[in-house]
Amino acid sequence: MKKYSFEPCTIEAPCKINLHLAIGGNRPDGFHELKSIFASLAFGDFLRFECGGKEGDCKLSIKWEIPEEAPGELPLEENLVYRAVSLFREETGFSSGLRISLVKRVPLGAGLGGGSSDAASTLLAMNTLAKTGLSTEKLKEIALQLGSDVPFFLDGGAAFVSGRGEHIKPLDPLPEGLKVILVKPPFSSDTASAFRLLDRFRQDGRKGLTSEELIQALGENPAKWPFFNDFLPVFLMQEDEKAASYRNILESLKSLNASFIGMSGAGSCCFGIFNNEKTAKITEKCLNGKGNFVRSTFFLARKCKPVLKY
Ligand code: C5P
Repeated sequence: MKKYSFEPCTIEAPCKINLHLAIGGNRPDGFHELKSIFASLAFGDFLRFECGGKEGDCKLSIKWEIPEEAPGELPLEENLVYRAVSLFREETGFSSGLRISLVKRVPLGAGLGGGSSDAASTLLAMNTLAKTGLSTEKLKEIALQLGSDVPFFLDGGAAFVSGRGEHIKPLDPLPEGLKVILVKPPFSSDTASAFRLLDRFRQDGRKGLTSEELIQALGENPAKWPFFNDFLPVFLMQEDEKAASYRNILESLKSLNASFIGMSGAGSCCFGIFNNEKTAKITEKCLNGKGNFVRSTFFLARKCKPVLKY
């Protein structure tokens, strides 16, 4: 087997929000068709890669920036970074021992694609560092095996995403001046269960927007965006404690003058888009310290390859 090695380096893995998420019917493969606008944010996890240890080993240490967000022990094999390394090894024959340190800033089960972005950044970083030269198509194929959102993170930026998540049309960057306030309630959402709930409770009647209409609307002031998330009405109609939390967060964001409010992915993180930095700052201050996870950020204006720092 060919021997590869590289200098230790740190990379960033930015998260995303879905400005729009329309879920269509069930596909023969069990997934759902979707039409979505994904947008990368200037907030994400950090990963440090180092060669070392026994051939074929992968030691992964995870540090949670907010310890309360740490889940219980998860089997290593379920971690998307570990799985990305395993698929990369199978594809390339890369066998050197690896030590990876992951600093988790993005909460789990939030719909922000933290784990998916970690996986995409791992594939890109490994391919760059080990100089294995996998093609974009091959990386995308591996990414889709890891999860429906992972292919988007190979390029990031803003994109219209359809199919199961594999059709990605890059869009113009969103205006730099827009601020994003993320507000995640103190519970997470399981994607597969959210899809099951949607299948059971969804009510038709919402006008579907064409991809052209969606892309054109993105150029408008956020106050005029026609975007929605199909999961949200289904979560709200449950009339449970979670529904009350969502309602509370969204009403607070609205009353604090967000130009657009929404929920990302299959939840649980909600967000407000602000045209104005001052209003965003006031919102962050008002919502902090109420048991929710709150972060102020902005859209990444450029395509986001992982930034390598030696
Ligand atoms: O692909 P990923 O592992 O993120 O998907 C998690 C679950 O979400 C899938 O097992 C499936 O139940 C559901 N899903 C879906 N349609 C999609 C994406 C995800 O039904 N387009």
